[in-house]
Amino acid sequence: MRIGVLTGGGDCPGLNAVIRAIVRKGEGVYGHQIIGFRHGWRGVLDNELTELTIASTRGILHRGGTILGTSRTNPFQHDDGVAIVQATLARENVDALVTIGGEDTLGVAHKLGAEGVPCVGVPKTIDNDLSATDVTFGFNTAVQIATDAIDRLHTTAESHDRVMVVEVMGRHAGWLALSSGLAGGADLILIPEQPFDLDVLCDRLRHRHARGASFSIVVVAEGAEPAAGTMTIQAATTDEFGHARLGGIGNALAPEIESRTGYETRVTTLGHVLRGGTPTAFDRILATRFGLEATDAAHDGDFGTMVALRGTDVVRVPLGDAVRELKTVPPSLLDSAAVFFG
Ligand code: F6P
Repeated sequence: MRIGVLTGGGDCPGLNAVIRAIVRKGEGVYGHQIIGFRHGWRGVLDNELTELTIASTRGILHRGGTILGTSRTNPFQHDDGVAIVQATLARENVDALVTIGGEDTLGVAHKLGAEGVPCVGVPKTIDNDLSATDVTFGFNTAVQIATDAIDRLHTTAESHDRVMVVEVMGRHAGWLALSSGLAGGADLILIPEQPFDLDVLCDRLRHRHARGASFSIVVVAEGAEPAAGTMTIQAATTDEFGHARLGGIGNALAPEIESRTGYETRVTTLGHVLRGGTPTAFDRILATRFGLEATDAAHDGDFGTMVALRGTDVVRVPLGDAVRELKTVPPSLLDSAAVFFG
């Protein structure tokens, strides 16, 4: 077989571990040829590819980013995109395409499946917002990076008696904010799933300070939204998948907190730092297991599936189940975290 591999969407720690596992199993166990398309779907449209061998993928397990490069290209937004994808795969004799990505990349894989393109999905994203898998790889690393940052910000908050607003990524899901906020002992966590009320937020900070605290840490997800009519947020530009480029809510929030409470307030936006650097051991192992199972699925001709973690098992699930709706934080989880707020 010739198995194609691509990484699409935002880069994320663990992508190289998946690529390495696919090559080790595909070439080393099954004797298949593995080729990598450069920059996600863009490489399939532009016929930009490279051969992946055991020799060429040595030493990448611990490396962040993706040796293949990535992009937010959506073939369905390009003239004749689907036909070009089909033509590239036919010309290159690709029998199976392992697509490593989040909701966008895997959404394309799912739609292309209906056009006869033989895809297997591997779920990645620091946002952890894909359904049908308990967790995506990359998330654990991002939570650890954010937690380390919150720990460090605590010392400045404490020394200067400040409110520190920490903005984390996560797009429309609050997993990263909630998890790092809980792990880092945040005093307030704002997530997209529950619009925040500035008055309530400031009351909670005042209440905390009235009880003797001299500082506070507020973790805010980039996609958190103020309750209707309470604050104006600038409209953002969108990508080929129609997603707004988020970021900046922390900067909008901090002056409001400072002017309403009188507490000196600073902002740290963690942004792409959360996607950078080496994956944690958890993510390396999960990514490796996903890569091995995806290779088996490709070998078996089990297309239209995505590998997923269910409990402690790596299983195959229908791609459609993963991309139908975003996995967001249930209200009960935020409610249980609220015991630590204010
Ligand atoms: O989906 C991963 C993610 O890091 C989101 O959390 C964030 O909103 C987005 O990608 C940022 O994308 P870009 O790297 O294109 O700015």
